[in-house]
Amino acid sequence: APTQPTYRIGFAQCTGGDDWRRAMQEGMERELSFYPNVTLLTRDAQNNSARQVEQIRDLLRANVDLLIVSPNEAEPITPVVEEAFHRGIPVIIVDRRTTSKLYTAYVGANNTEVGQTAGQYVSDLLKGHGNVLEIKGARGASPTADRHMGFGKTLKPGIRVVAEVSGDWEREYVLKRLPAVLKQHPEVDLIFAHNDRMALGAYQVCKQLGLDQRIKLVGVDGLAGPKGGIQLVEDGILNATVLYSTGGEEAIRTALKILRKEPYEKENILETMVINPTNVHMLKVQSDKILSQQQDIRRQQVLQTEQMKLYKSQKVVLYILVVS
Ligand code: FRU
Repeated sequence: APTQPTYRIGFAQCTGGDDWRRAMQEGMERELSFYPNVTLLTRDAQNNSARQVEQIRDLLRANVDLLIVSPNEAEPITPVVEEAFHRGIPVIIVDRRTTSKLYTAYVGANNTEVGQTAGQYVSDLLKGHGNVLEIKGARGASPTADRHMGFGKTLKPGIRVVAEVSGDWEREYVLKRLPAVLKQHPEVDLIFAHNDRMALGAYQVCKQLGLDQRIKLVGVDGLAGPKGGIQLVEDGILNATVLYSTGGEEAIRTALKILRKEPYEKENILETMVINPTNVHMLKVQSDKILSQQQDIRRQQVLQTEQMKLYKSQKVVLYILVVS
């Protein structure tokens, strides 16, 4: 049988330290299990743009056939991505963007639309009047700018953003920075956080200050699983979240199309939607089912590798028997 060409994909991830990124990595690995001839080299920049530039350079030196990048910040990562592109290495940008059009494909949701969806929902929830506090993601990351812009331009005129807090994507910063701002702004009716981890931090702060009954909370991500945003809405901790899919599987699917010279789309925009009390239960039932199927797939993969090892060792035994 003709042997399949082998490919090496380099993946420069901005951070690997949260459940959303882990779900992305798992999605990639699930999809990769269909292509045993493809290896994925993942590098975790741990939220550091300088480190990410270095890691991309290392991957290029290692002669990867294709590069997947989730840029920690747009500006600092743009030159090295352009350089790779100019050298003819296909580059797939996932989730966060660079500032340039020089890339092969993008996979991810439209973050302006994510902000607009949140703005529309908040306008309805507050019936057109009220005061909002916005907790933003890390400055310099494209989803922060896009979610902020989409949100602001969609709010009804009777709704004011009275304060902004930078949460750098993580709950711990919200726990540190939100209390003082919230004490200065007792008029806040609702908090919009750029992801669910920060929204959960906001909930904990509100609870400490005895404001959790009064202040409404909206997040972004809507991850499945016991600690994900779907569960937070189901438990009534968040009023809503906006679905932001990781696109792990789609990224690998797009990579394989590019490597095999098959037709592909440059812009692969993942769908987004509001998850709120009216649809959360149905979504939870469905996502629990998907998670348990994914666990089955994982168990089968483990079994398969064990069988493969057994088969190989038996072949060796057989060979020894035959030649002796
Ligand atoms: C995960 C994350 C998500 C957020 C995304 C934005 O690392 O912080 O929570 O939606 O990155 O790029």
